[in-house]
Formats: sequence, structure tokens, C-alpha cells
Amino acid sequence: MSMMSPEAASPDLWSTKRQFEQVSPASLAGRFMRSFWQPIAMATQIEPGRARPVHAFGESFTLYRTPDGTLNLTEFRCPHRRTQLSTGWVESDGIRCMYHGWKFGTDGQCKEVPGEDNENYIRRIKLKTYPVREYLGLVFAYVGDGEPPEMPRYTAFEDASYLDVSTYFRDCNYFQNIENGIDEVHVNFTHSTGLFEHSGLNEEVPQVEAEQTSYGLVAKGVRSDGRVRETHLLMPNILMLKLPPSAEGENEWRNYISWRIPVTDTLHMTFIVQGVSIAGEDIDKFIAARDEVNAQIAALESFKDVSRRVMSGEIAMSDIPPRPDITGIQDYVTQVGQGEIVDRSAEHLGRSDLAIVLLRRMWERELRALEMGEPLTSWEVPEMLAPTKGL
Ligand code: FES
Ligand SMILES: [Fe+2]
Repeated sequence: MSMMSPEAASPDLWSTKRQFEQVSPASLAGRFMRSFWQPIAMATQIEPGRARPVHAFGESFTLYRTPDGTLNLTEFRCPHRRTQLSTGWVESDGIRCMYHGWKFGTDGQCKEVPGEDNENYIRRIKLKTYPVREYLGLVFAYVGDGEPPEMPRYTAFEDASYLDVSTYFRDCNYFQNIENGIDEVHVNFTHSTGLFEHSGLNEEVPQVEAEQTSYGLVAKGVRSDGRVRETHLLMPNILMLKLPPSAEGENEWRNYISWRIPVTDTLHMTFIVQGVSIAGEDIDKFIAARDEVNAQIAALESFKDVSRRVMSGEIAMSDIPPRPDITGIQDYVTQVGQGEIVDRSAEHLGRSDLAIVLLRRMWERELRALEMGEPLTSWEVPEMLAPTKGL
């Protein structure tokens, strides 16, 4: 009688197990994601002299900025009796816990324990700290093991005349949104109204092609007249594409880059940087218009509540009056509609899922290498990588 495990008997079973979805430090995908620099906050979310909790990769951290502007990332809890460090006081050279005043330097070293005179005891207490850097309006951190790799640069965004930085949460596993980003056909249906309606992209369903590249993959939406829209997936979780102009004074399509960051298995955040081609007074107009749109959105029923009402059958998508954040609602409904963690073993993939199949293969190969202790692929971002709008 064969003693082979089901995995050995059928290698395909490996890929149907829940591998990509896992986020903990012990999981393969969690380790893989942690082997890259990843954004964990917008730079504007953390002012000098302030601290805040950060929940990412199934873990929690304390992010603080000393009064001179330097960012620090450290453990979530105080080693004394475990309260949240982010509620404490940021000082010029570290952070002090709110509960009993223990003080930690920016290198994590405990410096003061009020009421304790045993210096040796104090010296033995140290917080874990993580490398952290500010870039393109985001706070990037390296929370993996060992020395961090060199931080990649995205020069097309460094040169942009204006950078618009934003973030949002979505109540499903982060990998569903990674897959969504290279899903060219969903634009025709999910976004049949709203942002893409008059973009010229939705007139016909494109033929999907995909190729592996030095940085990940390029997904192509090929139209019958030969026009091609290129969307880039930069390993492991970055999407780069072009979006139609939507602001006054904006003539060019925007360069868009985003990172999908797991919070827990069933919640993720996206950090978005958009290079907008506007200059001078148009920048002020852009900011004023954006703030106004955000105020409009804040006055409406939340996108999440609306999406939930669609998913429960209380209303239909077509019942939603026009609103500026309709694209996010459309994506929320389809992605959260897949289930908090989609059951990939029950899917039926087709021709239009080519890019997603390629992405999964590439991820599987990396996760297998990690599991076997073999070297991972070293991805390279070309100097001026830029997507094409396909028009
Ligand atoms: S719990 Fe932080 S000082 Fe006591
Ligand atoms: Fe979408």
C-alpha cells in the first residue's frame, strides 16, 4: 500500500492549500512578505512628538516620531507590564510608557525605570526596533529577519510634479486585492459605471496576456485595434498602472502605485501614491477639490455600510446614487463578496485569468524556495518603469 502523503501524490494539491493568505511571522507567505520593505503608514499620519499603534502582518507595532522628525518603529507593548507603548510620551531621544514611566531610547534600550536602582536590571531590558524610512509620502519599514535589503526606488514617482498619497482598509484577505489589480477584465464589469465609464477602456473586453519580468509581471489588456493597456505587478504586492485624469487642470493620465498590506488574515490596507501632472496654482486647486470631495464622502453613508447593504440584498448597485467613491464600493463588493478569504480550491479559472495564474505560480515558486531554504528571486525595478494607458 502506498504511504505517500496526498501532497506527494498530487503536487497540485500544494497550490490549493491556503498558502498565499497567511500573514503571521511563522507562515511562508508571512515570511515572504516580510523579506521586503513595506509601507505601514502615510507620513502625514505621524507628526513629530507623536506615537501611534500600527497593525500589520498579523502583528502590532508602535510607530513614533521624535520632535526632530525622526521615525522609529518598535514593539507594541511595554516589556514591564505590557501596556500599549503608543499611549505614552514621545521624548527627544525615545519614548516613555504611560503606565509606570519606563523610558526607552530610540535604539530600544531601556534607560530609566522609576523606582528601580538596579542598573544591571535596567540594562538587560531592550525593545526590538525595526528599520524605518520615509519615502514618497509613506513610512516604509522592514519587519523581516536579518539585515534589510536595499530599498527599491520608484523614480517615475520621484519626478512627479505632485504626489497624492492615500490609504484605505478593506475587509478581506490582502491577496484578493493583489489579484484584483492585474485583473483587466473586471474593469469592464465591476467598473462599468464611474471612473472608467468614459475612459475609453470599457468599449470591449480585452484579450488578457501576461509575461514575467525582472520586477514581477506585466499584465496586458489587448484591444482588437491593437491598443494595449499594461499593468505592472511588482513582486510581491505592488500594483503600478495608469488612471484617467479626474481633476481640474489635469490633462495627463496619472501614474498610480499601490501596496496591499495585510492587517489580519481577513483585513488589509492599501497605500496609494499617485503622480499627478499638475503644477503651480493647479496644485492648490487640486488639494481644495480633493478636500471638498473627501468632505462630501464623509457626509454620505460610509462606503462600507453601502457595500454591506448591497451584499445583503437590501439594495442593488444600481440603487446607489452617483458618489465620488463609487470605484471603491464596486471593488469592495466584488472582493469582500468573494468571502473574507476566497476558497481558491473551488474556483474555475479561465482564459481571462492568465495574469492571476502567472502571479500565483510565481508566488508559489518563491514560497517553495523559502520552505526549502533555497535562494529567492532577486527582483529588479527598472529605472523608469511606467505603465501605458492603452489608448
Ligand atoms: S507597563 Fe510600561 S512602565 Fe509599566
Ligand atoms: Fe477595481
